Amino acid sequence: MKIVILTGAGISAESGISTFRDSNGLWEKHPIEDVATPEAFVRNPALVHRFYNLRRLALKDVEPNPAHFALARLQQALHASGGSLTLVTQNVDNLHTRGGSASPIHMHGELTSIRCTHCNAREYFEDETSVDTRCQNCGERAMRPNIVWFGEMPFAMQSIETAIAACDLFVSIGTSGAVYPAAGFVHMASSLGKDTLEINLEPSEGSAAFNESRLGKAGELVPLWVDEIIKGLKRPL
Ligand code: OAD
Repeated sequence: MKIVILTGAGISAESGISTFRDSNGLWEKHPIEDVATPEAFVRNPALVHRFYNLRRLALKDVEPNPAHFALARLQQALHASGGSLTLVTQNVDNLHTRGGSASPIHMHGELTSIRCTHCNAREYFEDETSVDTRCQNCGERAMRPNIVWFGEMPFAMQSIETAIAACDLFVSIGTSGAVYPAAGFVHMASSLGKDTLEINLEPSEGSAAFNESRLGKAGELVPLWVDEIIKGLKRPL
């Protein structure tokens, strides 16, 4: 069985990371346009560096929750049965990796990575950046957070679309379905005749497009759903 899962801020909410829509368009009290656009970085790079430094440091105070761990368990079980799980996340935290998932696709970038605006080299990074941080590849002082800001193209779109085209089931967990292109994945999956499931606290904006919606907390519903899938994999043919 091949499954593609898209996760959003709701899967990390029970780990203590605040979601976007629940904070009235503010991200940790900052208007998005002050910290999450290319224009903001040109206008005030020091503020943008400081903002992402704080988000990156805050990762040290949070832990993966049962939903993250369950998806890692599912990935291993699918792999062992000859199938696959492609995990796509809109989240910039590192909780899927710390929960044991292999190779999550961070379509909106990740906090633990920075990128050179001069040579485009990317580096794993856990500390604080500033306008003076030098690129380890070319030596320029030209580093930016490796985050997809509003107005920029998400990463790995081609691989994600290929995985959706090849999957049996598309699942969306903890996302409001308000931000495209991620919000369009369910429409692509259903137009190709794929089975689709949403797990969210409340119906998302795209809820009507899913074959099934399960409403409640990801930390409770995801482990139960994963148990169901794994049981089905073990059933004799
Ligand atoms: P949102 O904040 O838009 O949506 C979070 C969703 O999770 C909401 O529908 C909540 O009801 C749901 N939710 C909250 N707690 C939950 C829980 N414990 N269990 C299950 N669901 C829960 O976050 P995203 O959809 O991830 O983009 O936002 C998408 C993108 O918009 C983000 O990646 C970011 C943002 O602006 C960029 O940074 C480019």
